[in-house]
Amino acid sequence: MVPAQPEGTFEHAFSGTRFSIRDTAAGVWQTVERPRESQTLPVSYVIGSGSHAFGYLAQAGDHLFQSPISYYTNRHAWDVAPGYEESKKPDFSRPVTLECLACHSDKPLPVAGTLNRYQSPAFAGEAIGCDRCHGLTEAHLKTPVPGTIINPEKLSGAARDSVCEQCHLAGEVRIPNPGKSFLGFHAGQRLEDVFTVYVVAQIPGKTIKVISQAEQLALSLCARSSEGRLWCGTCHNPHETPARPAEYFRQRCLTCHGATVAAAHGAPSYDCINCHMPKRPAKDGGHTAFTDHRITRRPEIESAEELTPPAELKAWREPEESLRQRNLALALVTAGTENHNSDQVIRGFRMLNRLDTVFSNDPAVLTALGTILLRGKEPVEAERRFERVLQQHPDYAPYQVNAASALLEEGKIAEATQHLERAVQLDSLLEQAVELLSYVYRTQGEQSKSEEIMARYRRAMGITLR
Ligand code: HEC
Ligand code: HEC
Ligand code: HEC
Ligand code: HEC
Ligand code: HEC
Ligand code: HEC
Repeated sequence: MVPAQPEGTFEHAFSGTRFSIRDTAAGVWQTVERPRESQTLPVSYVIGSGSHAFGYLAQAGDHLFQSPISYYTNRHAWDVAPGYEESKKPDFSRPVTLECLACHSDKPLPVAGTLNRYQSPAFAGEAIGCDRCHGLTEAHLKTPVPGTIINPEKLSGAARDSVCEQCHLAGEVRIPNPGKSFLGFHAGQRLEDVFTVYVVAQIPGKTIKVISQAEQLALSLCARSSEGRLWCGTCHNPHETPARPAEYFRQRCLTCHGATVAAAHGAPSYDCINCHMPKRPAKDGGHTAFTDHRITRRPEIESAEELTPPAELKAWREPEESLRQRNLALALVTAGTENHNSDQVIRGFRMLNRLDTVFSNDPAVLTALGTILLRGKEPVEAERRFERVLQQHPDYAPYQVNAASALLEEGKIAEATQHLERAVQLDSLLEQAVELLSYVYRTQGEQSKSEEIMARYRRAMGITLR
């Protein structure tokens, strides 16, 4: 399942970590070494076509974790994966969530009610299936004629754009509607029927740097002036790989510019994209656009720097009225937490507090409120929220950890221990649960229990102390 990989080693100076990759008869193995410990896990899936980079998913039991290692095909070199450049402890601790796999595989097959446990194999297919763009296939399989299947091209507006955006518009954060998951979307719907994507609002006068193709395209005069006719499918046909890109894309431009282009250009104007959609200096893989989809008048290449932390979040398209405040508030809390922007978190918190009665049984709202209350040293109030979530989802390990954290803060050690033991029983590789439980045992004088669960965890995670 994992094709042969080049072997190699490299150092990450920032964290003082040494990485190595071995391709053996028993599979591909990756190792992370620091002075005090090392971790080795098998790689079970490769992400990406390798046009820029390969990413890897490591496996421990039936859990999948992101690998901090990527292979960069342009440079023919191993290096840390995008997002780990400034990590002080790059290792295999980031769970692979459904969100990753919803974009990178056909149909992920999670173990229901878990964070990162999957069936074996973890997806129904590695290549993206027809239904992801053509919608539910049942009717079509019964009556296999063109009219029974969605042709994305024939959809209109938001529904048409959503087909590609489900995977090509990551935004800053994506917030699922109550009761929905990222897998709930099917072609024919609008994304907002399932989740809202929040992007960084444009600051007038400031140039936009690393953002997605969808966001860039929306800025182009072509898109703004063509009344919704221009979409991804105008230039890209997923069923064709252009043999001669210059010619291929030129034809696409001329569907609209046939009459005007000769007048605009005295000189020969064959390779439209070379001047109007130049490539950026290729940045290492990850989630950035390489081709300038703003279709600018004058060729200009800007340095591909990251935009400084989000000034403001804005819905790409708004969800239905009743969810606008909820989804925006959750987006503010999530993005604010990730970017250490307490302003955003507080604004999100205030909005959520006002919604508390309307969404009084909404796990996402309650969890966000509880988390912020706990951080604000209000453990009793936090626990109230977390317990309400647990009543609905008693078997989701991270929710048990939330409740335990609040109880610990309140000094209710015995109750907290119960929740943590339950969490570890549900998910023996949930790092936070294992570490907290080990800590609690230690503070209660139960040294051997404390060491035992850590040892079990390390064994399963391929960690060796040195
Ligand atoms: C289920 C997720 C998904 C959907 C839906 C999807 N894409 Fe993609 N697409 C991807 C991924 C992932 C890649 C990156 C390929 C890789 O590196 O493995 C990609 C790559 C591409 C590329 C670059 C191809 C290349 O060879 O470099 C284009 C162009 C593209 N997609 C266009 C579209 C268009 C147009 C649509 C809508 C009609 C669409 N995609 C829908 C996931 C998706
Ligand atoms: C919203 C959909 C989406 C999500 C979520 C997402 N990706 Fe991607 N990813 C893409 C697309 C589309 C590309 C193709 C690059 C582009 O946009 O041009 C890509 C590119 C990549 C690449 C580079 C592949 C190549 O061929 O160059 C890696 C590695 C990767 N993603 C890993 C991950 C991991 C790990 C996660 C989860 C933490 C993740 N992605 C989450 C959509 C997504
Ligand atoms: C990434 C999105 C995507 C995926 C995946 C995809 N398609 Fe398509 N498909 C499109 C788009 C966009 C069009 C419209 C452009 C065109 O007509 O070629 C289309 C058109 C078609 C058409 C022509 C429909 C008509 O009414 O003329 C057929 C047939 C088709 N696809 C079959 C498939 C099959 C079978 C698969 C799976 C093996 C598949 N497609 C996977 C996006 C996709
Ligand atoms: C769906 C129709 C459509 C397509 C396809 C299209 N454009 Fe445009 N484009 C427009 C419209 C409408 C305008 C507004 C000005 C005009 O009418 O010429 C425009 C404007 C432009 C401008 C002027 C931008 C500015 O800021 O002044 C450039 C340059 C341009 N297009 C290049 C291209 C190139 C190159 C392609 C192919 C890669 C392309 N367009 C594809 C509709 C389109
Ligand atoms: C006006 C034409 C045009 C439109 C519309 C367009 N693209 Fe592209 N796209 C291109 C060109 C040209 C390239 C570069 C292809 C090449 O180098 O062979 C490209 C490249 C890409 C790539 C490869 C990575 C990169 O950035 O170079 C992806 C992914 C992609 N487009 C996705 C999309 C998505 C998603 C949409 C809709 C939001 C879209 N494109 C709309 C012309 C277009
Ligand atoms: C050698 C570089 C180059 C190539 C190739 C090129 N353009 Fe341009 N194009 C320009 C420049 C520079 C301008 C701006 C002219 C100005 O501002 O007076 C421009 C202007 C335009 C405009 C705006 C016209 C207006 O009057 O507002 C459109 C539309 C356009 N180009 C489309 C295309 C299309 C379509 C192609 C391919 C058939 C193409 N260009 C090929 C450099 C190029």
